[in-house]
Amino acid sequence: GVDKLIRVTPSMLKYNNGRKGRPCWSSYGGKVFNIGVYLEYHPGGEGELRRASGKDGEKLFMEVHPWVNWENMLGECLVGIMVSEDDARA
Ligand code: HEM
Repeated sequence: GVDKLIRVTPSMLKYNNGRKGRPCWSSYGGKVFNIGVYLEYHPGGEGELRRASGKDGEKLFMEVHPWVNWENMLGECLVGIMVSEDDARA
């Protein structure tokens, strides 16, 4: 739930790219989602979705399917919100 959201810096997002057993995160609209749990269900395939792992996937997403509502689909996978490295230290 919203009470458990964490503040995610760009370096944290980059680290959690699904490699070496790490969580697979991706950000959309400033929100960070654990897309690892959705990989096997993505209609466009796991490989396509992984292209957005550890980074902001909004541009790729909007290029392919702007009609898809990620908020509705990934609501349960929300882990946090993006903040700058500086805001995280404050
Ligand atoms: C198809 C969801 C991220 C590439 C789809 C479809 C859904 C979906 C619901 C079916 C759309 C339809 O038939 O109208 C999502 C969600 C994403 C995500 C929730 C975010 C986590 C991405 C990314 C890429 C991508 C980042 C590209 C790098 C594709 C492709 C298809 C597709 C190529 C078309 C598959 C086909 O029709 O053969 N996705 N997607 N998706 N997605 Fe995604």
